[in-house]
Amino acid sequence: MAKINAHYSKLSGNYIFGEVADRAKVRKSTLPLISLGVGDITLPLPAACVSALIDAAKEMGDPLSYKGYGPPFGYDFLREAISQHDYNGKIAPDEIIISDGAKCDISNIQEIFCTQNRVALADPTYPVYIDTTVMAGRTRPRLKNGRYGGVTYLSCTEENGFRPRPPREHCDLVYLCSPNNPTGVAMDRELLAEWVAYAKKEGAILIYDGAYEAYIRSKDAPHSIYEIKGAEEVAIEIRSFSKSAGFTGLRLSYSVFPHALKVFDCGREHSLNALWKRRHETKYGGTPYAAQRAGAALYTPEGKKQLQAVVQTYSDNALLLRKGLQNLGLTVYGGIDAPYIWCKAPAHLTDWEFFDILLNKAAILSIPGSEFGSSGSGFLRMSAFAPRPSIEEALQRLRSAL
Ligand SMILES: Cc1ncc(COP(=O)(O)O)c(C=O)c1O
Repeated sequence: MAKINAHYSKLSGNYIFGEVADRAKVRKSTLPLISLGVGDITLPLPAACVSALIDAAKEMGDPLSYKGYGPPFGYDFLREAISQHDYNGKIAPDEIIISDGAKCDISNIQEIFCTQNRVALADPTYPVYIDTTVMAGRTRPRLKNGRYGGVTYLSCTEENGFRPRPPREHCDLVYLCSPNNPTGVAMDRELLAEWVAYAKKEGAILIYDGAYEAYIRSKDAPHSIYEIKGAEEVAIEIRSFSKSAGFTGLRLSYSVFPHALKVFDCGREHSLNALWKRRHETKYGGTPYAAQRAGAALYTPEGKKQLQAVVQTYSDNALLLRKGLQNLGLTVYGGIDAPYIWCKAPAHLTDWEFFDILLNKAAILSIPGSEFGSSGSGFLRMSAFAPRPSIEEALQRLRSAL
């Protein structure tokens, strides 16, 4: 008889947002809902991407330029553009592997590591890190506080500025996300250097998720972990076109596996670049040509300008939301280096109670922080991906509701 992967039964019922959506359906307010909840984009694709998609579709429809299976690690035109524009040529094109979303790479990456590896991750955190760690069998069952046994949680609180510090204990795989979802806070150079030193000392690998890199404004926040000396020996970096260029529905991302990144096991040295390529080539059919053409269009002068305009719009929204909430007397974090605001619930309220007030009095949807981990209790995540008029309207409603 077939058996299921028993680790799935350790998971909590839903990927997050299930309860949030259910409560939104039965809200008391009759006002139209303003969603500051799920972090999906609301602006269309930049024009340069749309033209590239049309051109790619024409090529695919022409017997002379039709493309079948593409190169498994991505087309050279895109890998070279990323190498030049995102890394000033310091990362070689063959260290860059194209994929159809950061989420997939974040999850699939676990497969090339031993099950016994201990995972560390921030709390609160992007839920994919923990859920896929559970699915891969790297945890013990779920505890009463919602955490899983066998995982090292790096609490991110007001006291440490929501910046995860290296633990005292040994860990093998560390998920780091900067700027962070959900807190909206970016790590600075000094802290990242501490992480690189920790990884070297412990023989750990850092899985560095830079999905929101385009939003970094703080001068002391590196755009890439490879700005830290020695990081190429200990870190994989993952980036996405989703949240900057609006590719959430088109799908395009890449992961960087430097040649210097090695793991010593079974008495010999293993290149993670080679291992990941082995996996990718076997299990992945390649990212669609049209999506890669659309991505490459973002590195043209026109594309760069359009991309910048999109990111600026969401960044301006974030600052508006941050300031508006502060003017209402609320304590807020994030919003400077990321399109997320981490808003503290007033002292007498839990995050779910505050969520309900915003929903029932003002028809504003947010996400309770405890959905991202127990250290997120007492906070709400608000997304600045909503259209500007919705953010203005939300602040207007909050002025009357609070
Ligand atoms: C931190 C983080 N990484 C990765 C992703 C997923 O990116 P993609 O759309 O490229 O799969 C998200 C999406 O919300 C995210 O918040």
